Amino acid sequence: MSLISFDVEKCTACGICSMTCPINIIMPGEKGAPSLPIEYEAFCTHCGHCEAICPTNAIMVSYQSFPPEDDNASIEQTNPEQLKKYIQSRRSIRVFKDKSVEKEKIKDLFEAVRFAPSGMNGQPVKWLVVTDSSEIKKFADLTIDWMRMMAEKDADHPLKRYFPVLVALADAGFDPICRNSPGLVYAYSENASGYTDSIIALTTFDLIAPSFGLGTCWVGLLHRAAVEYQPLKEALGIPAGFVLQFPMLFGYPKYKYRKIPGRKKADILWR
Ligand SMILES: Cc1cc2nc3c(=O)[nH]c(=O)nc-3n(C[C@H](O)[C@H](O)[C@H](O)COP(=O)(O)O)c2cc1C
Repeated sequence: MSLISFDVEKCTACGICSMTCPINIIMPGEKGAPSLPIEYEAFCTHCGHCEAICPTNAIMVSYQSFPPEDDNASIEQTNPEQLKKYIQSRRSIRVFKDKSVEKEKIKDLFEAVRFAPSGMNGQPVKWLVVTDSSEIKKFADLTIDWMRMMAEKDADHPLKRYFPVLVALADAGFDPICRNSPGLVYAYSENASGYTDSIIALTTFDLIAPSFGLGTCWVGLLHRAAVEYQPLKEALGIPAGFVLQFPMLFGYPKYKYRKIPGRKKADILWR
């Protein structure tokens, strides 16, 4: 069975599949249907664009592609003013309600996240999802242990100046790392090359979360500790050999923001 089959009866030889193929492996047919030469099949990224764009439904891919439940691509035009405001209103949330996030809701959110772009459609991102707040608190405590250790051991640690205040807050009973969050996602991948795709996927998670009533916060401090401190890495339980990419807290925000804070103007070099 070929990787991609072309129905000659339905094909109008419009050439759109060939033009939109990201790696140009679909050869336009002069009169009849296009073709994918067998020697090019190995280069196919399984992006599904050819099947999804063909105006006469003449293309069928044979690889497993996991489409969404509703795979109709036509959507109502998004209002740019509303979307701009939505993105401007996203905030890093550091105070969460003491309420766990429903598993069904998290699964639904990932139905959007799994469509984030990835280089060569590699889809390398894997996810650790933790919804037990006592587990998350353990990770925060281990981060503080790491800070205590590094404050003594590494005089040149780039984050050293933040350690005393964070350790003091933890000693006073606060959680300055994971903020008593009821949810944590950690993107990881098979190797270091999954970094950019992980950040894109996390950004997608970050952007869609408010539409589910959820708030998020990237946790660089936890990540730094997880990369440098083996007990934390082990506690996370990511399989050996995989690379931790970045963590993000999530949960229901306790407070509403009244205003959108200012940010730098976009620094654009116009050419
Ligand atoms: C890579 C990265 C790491 C971050 N790490 C932390 C962190 O460890 N703790 C924290 O409270 N916020 C963290 N943040 C959130 C930033 O402080 C926040 O995005 C910034 O202050 C802007 O606020 P806003 O996201 O509400 O616009 C991080 C953000 C990014 C992008």
